[in-house]
Amino acid sequence: QFTQRVFSGIQPSGGLTLGNYLGAMKRFVDMQGQDYETIYCMVDLHAITVWQDPAKLRHATRELCAGFIAAGIDPEQSILFNQSAVPEHAQLAWIFNCVARMGWMQRMTQFKDKAGKNAQNASLGLFAYPALMAADILIYHATHVPVGEDQKQHLELTRDIATKFNHDYGVDFFPITEPVIEGAATRVMSLRDGSKKMSKSDPSDASRINMTDDADTIAKKIRKAKTDPDALPSEAKGLENRPEARNLVNIYAALADMSVEAVLKDAGGKQFSEFKPILSELAVAKLAPISTEMARLTQDAGEIDKILDRGAERAREVAAPILKKTYEIVGM
Ligand code: ADP
Ligand code: NA
Repeated sequence: QFTQRVFSGIQPSGGLTLGNYLGAMKRFVDMQGQDYETIYCMVDLHAITVWQDPAKLRHATRELCAGFIAAGIDPEQSILFNQSAVPEHAQLAWIFNCVARMGWMQRMTQFKDKAGKNAQNASLGLFAYPALMAADILIYHATHVPVGEDQKQHLELTRDIATKFNHDYGVDFFPITEPVIEGAATRVMSLRDGSKKMSKSDPSDASRINMTDDADTIAKKIRKAKTDPDALPSEAKGLENRPEARNLVNIYAALADMSVEAVLKDAGGKQFSEFKPILSELAVAKLAPISTEMARLTQDAGEIDKILDRGAERAREVAAPILKKTYEIVGM
C-alpha cells in the first residue's frame, strides 16, 4: 500500500565523523538507485536541541550538504534538503507531541546520555527530540530508515507513535517503518575507548576520525588507537571481549565492503603494528577523495543553497498533502 521510500538525516552539529560515514552516509548512497525513493535531510532543528553558534550552524549545514554530495548522493536522484526549510516537520511533530507519552520519552537512553546528571537543565526540545524524529520520517510516509545502532530505540518509538496515532483515530494512515541497521559498522567505537561510540561531540579529537582530517592525521590517529597486545584472530569469535580490536576490524570491513570473516581470513595472525598501517592506507584511499570534494563544494555556498532550496521544494510536494490529511484526520 505504501511506496517504498527511504528517509534519513544527519545533524549539522559539527564535522562528520567516520562513524556517521560508515553507519549512515555510505549506506544512504547504497540505497540510492535501488527500488526506493530516497529522501535525505540536514536536521538542523535537531541540532539546536543543544545550543549552536548561529554562524557555525549555517556553515556546518552547507558543509554537511557538500558531504552528502561528495559521498555520492545525487541531488537529482535523491531529495536533499534542510529540515527547517520544510515547516511540515515541526507541524507534524506537534501532533506527535500530543500522541507520544511522557513515560515513553523518559525511557530514551540518548536523552539520558545527552542530558547528563542535570536533566532538569536540558532543553525541552532535547526531551521531545524523538517525536520530531518520528515526524521527520512519517511526514514522508517513509517505509525504510537506514541508521546506526544508536538510533534503534528512537525508531522503535517512531513505530509506537505511528501505531498509537492509527489506533487513536481509527485509521491506517502512517506506515510502521522498518529500521535498516546493517553492515559491519552499525556502531563505530571511539579510538580511545572501546566502550564509547565514536562521536562528533566527544571532547577528545583523537577519539574520532573526522571526514576533514588529512592523510597524516588519519594515520596518526589509527597508529595511536587503543588496542590489546594480541595478534588478530583468524575468526570473528576471536574478537569477543576485545572491543578495540573488533572496532578496527569492523572499520576495515566496512571501508573495504568485505565481511569481517573475509578480513580475518587475510589479516588473522597479524600484529596490530602491521595491521594499523594497512587500515590507514585503506581509510585514506576511501576518505581523501570525499573530503577533497567536500571542501571544494563547500566553497560555493550559493550553489549549495540552490541545491538545498530545490530539495526543500520537492520535499514539500510530498510532505504538504500528508500534513493536510493528518489535520483532517485529527479534526482540524
Ligand atoms: P552524532 O551522533 O555523531 O551527532 P547524528 O546524531 O547526526 O550523529 O547521527 C547521524 C547518523 O549517524 C545516525 O544514523 C547515527 O546512527 C549515525 N552514527 C552516528 N555515530 C555513529 C557511530 N559511531 N557508528 C555508526 N553510526 C553512527
Ligand atoms: Na546520534
